[in-house]
Amino acid sequence: MVKICCIGAGYVGGPTMAVIALKCPDIEVVVVDIFEPRIIAWNSDHLPIYEPGLDDVVKQCRGKNLFFSKDVEKHVAEADIVFVSVNTPTKTQGLGAGKAADLTYWESAARMIADVSKTDKIVVEKSTVPVKTAEAIEKILTHNSKGINFQILSNPEFLAEGTAIKDLFNPDRVLIGGRETPEGQKAIHALKDVYAHWVPVERIICTNLWSAELSKLAANAFLAQRISSVNAMSALCEATGADVSQVSHAIGKDTRIGSKFLNASVGFGGSCFQKDILNLVYICECNGLPEVASYWKQVIQVNEYQKTRFVNRVVSSMFNTISGKKIAILGFAFKKDTGDTRETPAIGVCRGLLGDKAMLSIYDPQVSQEQIQRDLSMQKSELDRPPHLQPASPTAIKQVRCVWDAYEAAKGAHGICILTEWDEFKTLDYQKIYDDMQKPAFVFDGRNVVDADKLRQIGFIVYTIGKPL
Ligand code: NAD
Ligand code: UGA
Repeated sequence: MVKICCIGAGYVGGPTMAVIALKCPDIEVVVVDIFEPRIIAWNSDHLPIYEPGLDDVVKQCRGKNLFFSKDVEKHVAEADIVFVSVNTPTKTQGLGAGKAADLTYWESAARMIADVSKTDKIVVEKSTVPVKTAEAIEKILTHNSKGINFQILSNPEFLAEGTAIKDLFNPDRVLIGGRETPEGQKAIHALKDVYAHWVPVERIICTNLWSAELSKLAANAFLAQRISSVNAMSALCEATGADVSQVSHAIGKDTRIGSKFLNASVGFGGSCFQKDILNLVYICECNGLPEVASYWKQVIQVNEYQKTRFVNRVVSSMFNTISGKKIAILGFAFKKDTGDTRETPAIGVCRGLLGDKAMLSIYDPQVSQEQIQRDLSMQKSELDRPPHLQPASPTAIKQVRCVWDAYEAAKGAHGICILTEWDEFKTLDYQKIYDDMQKPAFVFDGRNVVDADKLRQIGFIVYTIGKPL
């Protein structure tokens, strides 16, 4: 029986390995993590992450060929294939701070693999890493290898949160990069065999190591660029009377452009787009390509602009003062169907509103009060950020209340900001909400989820991104 061990039981390691275990009953999969509470949660009825369909998959194979353990070294030593799916955040200190990827967790995992291994292993980069990372990892692994043969593969993950299980069951493609040596090609084939249990072989792309590593950064940069492009258009739509949904629809019909990922919003969030573009920018700068770096940097700048624009719109619409006014925040997660708040645009928007002394009443179906408080008060190292993106002061946090119902959030409020596109926000009883609000009652829809005309008929003043007022 082939044994797989995955280091890192997070948003990627957990769901990815659960699906491999489900689709490959002949393979034993152990997911390990140094963070014990996560492992305890993976072994409980309350999984550490919310992801539609995940509970079912885990229930079907946990205890059969899927295991979660904190015994990292034992399971790494026993494995034939070791996936490394640890976090690779943006560096906060030292050389490249604020841009470069922090590979501390990766390096410590690699050193541990080198220390505990007694048999040959395929080591798979699952985390998103800078191009050429495999070269450094190879050096660490082979430095003290005691004659053990390590083959490094790059197998970046393309799942999106909220649709992880669907994406893993039916990926557009699986990408495997390896050395162009006979041993490297053999390793590629071994990993290909794992995915071939359920992914059609024509969707498994094999490349060299550097193409695979760079393709992951490129894919995220292209996706984020589409959002910044449509968000930039949304500002122009508001200035001219065009409707961004109509523009998206019209341009998306061109098969060369395509219709997906053209939803204007309050800005993109999530743990990866910003981090991976910053990483790409840093790599370009290090390779003497400042023009290329500044091209990609602009994608992030437009994203920041979009959040600032939204806050400014709220303040200016509400007669230039929101001091002491109650504003309901509907949605805090970075997108629907996840409880993840990493880099959610809601953080920037809430901080901006708090900076103008608003009273916030926040509701998200999947994010806890503790998480929201933590996010709003978290110290960010990016001190060059605009004031509204800096951490809220302890006094400002007192202006925040978290509630467990959208109606409760909106009761007595002057305005509502919709910051996550949860389906339930489409079908709320807006007449009831209107009746319980201060007048004039404002709705600022940061996700284009409400029927603005219907709400206007009720009496709301509605602002929707990229649409005529
Ligand atoms: P995460 O923070 O949810 O999980 C990482 C886990 O690794 C944590 O639980 C941490 O405790 C563990 N860890 C760190 N060092 C360790 C060590 N030495 N030994 C054992 N465990 C260790 O991160 P994530 O969201 O799963 O992302 C992981 C990687 O995958 C990142 O590089 C990310 O860019 C990439 N990625 C993420 C997504 C996503 O949707 N979240 C999608 C594609 C790729
Ligand atoms: C994204 C990519 O889609 C995945 O392919 C990739 O694997 C992953 O990053 C990663 O490397 O972490 P994710 O961040 O989970 O996945 O979610 P997305 O669906 O891409 O959404 C990201 C953000 O963009 C969200 O805030 C979303 O609301 C926003 N978005 C998305 C828009 O504002 N408009 C759109 O049209 C699409």
